[in-house]
Amino acid sequence: MLQPNDYPVSVQFDLSKLVFSPVLEKVERRVSDMAKHFHDKDAAQTLVTQGDKLLYEVLYHSFETSKSDMVMCLTRIFSGTVGDEYHMTKGHIHARDDQAEIYFCLQGEGYLLLQTLDGEFRAERWTAGTLSHIPPMWAHRTVNTGTNDLVFVSVFNLSAGYDYGVVEAKGFKKLVVEHDGQPTLTDNPRWNP
Ligand code: F6R
Ligand code: ZN
Repeated sequence: MLQPNDYPVSVQFDLSKLVFSPVLEKVERRVSDMAKHFHDKDAAQTLVTQGDKLLYEVLYHSFETSKSDMVMCLTRIFSGTVGDEYHMTKGHIHARDDQAEIYFCLQGEGYLLLQTLDGEFRAERWTAGTLSHIPPMWAHRTVNTGTNDLVFVSVFNLSAGYDYGVVEAKGFKKLVVEHDGQPTLTDNPRWNP
């Protein structure tokens, strides 16, 4: 017997504004939420005292039924840097070890950084139209290296769960920094002190 939430649901994207409706939840992350993640702690602290700029926002729509728990999110990372490091998401790995995720870049340019617990690292270059599959047990973070907002959609299962601690501990092997006006991947000193 079908329950009320077992019926099909659609959400509508506005492809010029890059938003969808209805948004069921919204999360905002500012510099102060990311203090542990940027390598230039002084630059981060200064920005916190100067208005604590918004780095990115995530809009959520979940599609829970009696037998499934898919979620769709739209992340918008605003353009800019903290010190020389480009705006980026916190990054996480999923708590469950059998959960993959799809990311689809709608606008902007940047990188999807991926890393396993054993230290395998990948950086996927992103432009509008790039779709990436994140296999289970790869931590993931997105970085906006462009002058426009970086906007992408993610689709995953809610029961995948989140583990932010693994990225918070040491970050990813590479930092994405602006060097001579160009996005550059450099070694993260927290990996090779
Ligand atoms: C969900 C997912 C994305 C991110 C979002 C914000 O599994 O990967 O929807 O949650 O891009 O990044 P975090 O969660 O790292 O702050
Ligand atoms: Zn994820």
